[in-house]
Amino acid sequence: MLKRMVVDVLLVNLSLALALFVRYLVASWSQQGAFFVDQHLMRSFLGIYLNSAWLLTVAALVIFYVSGFYTRGSMYIGHYKALVILQAVTLTYLAFGSLVFLAGTSIGLPRSVLPLGWLLTLMSIGGVRLAFVLVEREVMRDLGALGVGEVPDPRNVLVVGGAGYIGSVLVRKLLERGYRVRVLDRLLYGDDSLAELYHAEDFELVQGDFRNVEAVVRAVQRMSSIIHLGAVVGDPACALDEEFTFEVNLAATRMIAEVGKGYGIRRFLFASSCSVYGASEEIMDERSLVAPLSLYARTKVESERLLLSIKSESFSPVLLRFATVCGMSHRPRFDLVVNLLAAQAIFDKKITIFGGDQWRPFVHVDDVADAIIGCLEAPLAVVSGQVFNVGSDDGNHRLMQVGDIIKRVVPEVEVTVRQNAEDERNYRVSSEKIRRMLGFSANRTVEDAVLDIVRAVRTGRVVNYRKPQYSNVRWLTENGETAITMVPNIYSVVMRMPEGMSATG
Ligand SMILES: NC(=O)c1ccc[n+]([C@@H]2O[C@H](COP(=O)([O-])OP(=O)(O)OC[C@H]3O[C@@H](n4cnc5c(N)ncnc54)[C@H](O)[C@@H]3O)[C@@H](O)[C@H]2O)c1
Repeated sequence: MLKRMVVDVLLVNLSLALALFVRYLVASWSQQGAFFVDQHLMRSFLGIYLNSAWLLTVAALVIFYVSGFYTRGSMYIGHYKALVILQAVTLTYLAFGSLVFLAGTSIGLPRSVLPLGWLLTLMSIGGVRLAFVLVEREVMRDLGALGVGEVPDPRNVLVVGGAGYIGSVLVRKLLERGYRVRVLDRLLYGDDSLAELYHAEDFELVQGDFRNVEAVVRAVQRMSSIIHLGAVVGDPACALDEEFTFEVNLAATRMIAEVGKGYGIRRFLFASSCSVYGASEEIMDERSLVAPLSLYARTKVESERLLLSIKSESFSPVLLRFATVCGMSHRPRFDLVVNLLAAQAIFDKKITIFGGDQWRPFVHVDDVADAIIGCLEAPLAVVSGQVFNVGSDDGNHRLMQVGDIIKRVVPEVEVTVRQNAEDERNYRVSSEKIRRMLGFSANRTVEDAVLDIVRAVRTGRVVNYRKPQYSNVRWLTENGETAITMVPNIYSVVMRMPEGMSATG
């Protein structure tokens, strides 16, 4: 409002000054028969301007305000609005003329200045508003072509990194619940996890690198929420190339969130990690101090901070700190401790526990997907800007206890314990907050995860747990250059685009 008032004051004053200037030219022409710089005449016109401008300014501001120039809906334009402007400017000049008349000869404003000033004010005030509305319409048309500004179907969800270990479980659950799911993923570890969905109704894959803004813009169009799971995951994988990790885990998170915010995404669920807590003897809850011990954990802490810093009334980040995940997925991972030990138990008949006393919180991958859906469906006011640990109080185990669980499920396994000074992570987490606020509680145990793996091996779903695709650090190491530095601005083989979800309409 203040800006619009300042612009109007400038326009009204410029119009009066211009009208006086024209009147001065006419006066100098009629006195000299030509345009002359007559200092005396100029000074007298300047005096007239200074004596009268403030009167006009006050009259204009009062009448424009009363005419509704500064209300919220004032920027539309139409016949009615044009009439309001005509009426307000005319009233302003009538009031101004009356005040000048009452002031008598002390102001000395030539009467002929009034109609000219009125005309110039009308043109400038109306012209600026018209120009503004036309430019705005043009911008809206461009944004409309891009899908900005439309209210998307709340069932449209973008899962970034949806081809991964957690994503491939989540995507299926979302489809079962009637969501229309778009996945943005580079398929770093192959496309086996989603291939069977390519022909599913309501599923769409945008294959692309989410460091590339074009791929992100394309993926967020017509989406209502974003679930961001994409990352370089795990301490060893992140340590391979710090710059790459920074780009993928932090810089891209900011970009995806900013683009999402610009496209009217209201809910942004972010996959963080309980590894932000580092090492502690305490049971960590969401208010506990974070103490990241690795680059991976640091990128999570920083991502959380930046997402909270861009929270607004219309953009709600929700931060989910997952415990260490376990269990079978459509993109199996055998670089996660429970899964790895379970697979070694079955294939190799022996496992080695390093350390043993350190605490870790575990959560089943199906429970993680359920918790994400819980946050997606919770009232926005409840989850907006919230941090939730995702695990269960019963899911905190010493590594030694994990060995015992595996021994229970696979009795023939030989368990060895070795000292390990390398991995300092040691923490327990409380998941009381998500239980209290969203009613979420984990339904599966570490034992369920071990049983999953046993079943997957026995049914031939996993024939070689050492396959590089099953380990992030091995895959990225073996595929080095290709995996890490894939040209980020090449994107997008759209595998399937169901009606109503396609980026091009
Ligand atoms: N699995 C766990 O134990 C665990 C624990 C805590 C937090 N998390 C977090 O959950 C999220 C998902 O983990 P996950 O276990 O499913 O990991 P994952 O490695 O299986 O999946 C990551 C996915 O992101 C994709 N991706 C990576 N970089 C990309 C890029 N530049 N462009 C496009 N796609 C890219 C990969 O192709 C992959 O499909 C991650 O943010 C992770 O940090 C996982």
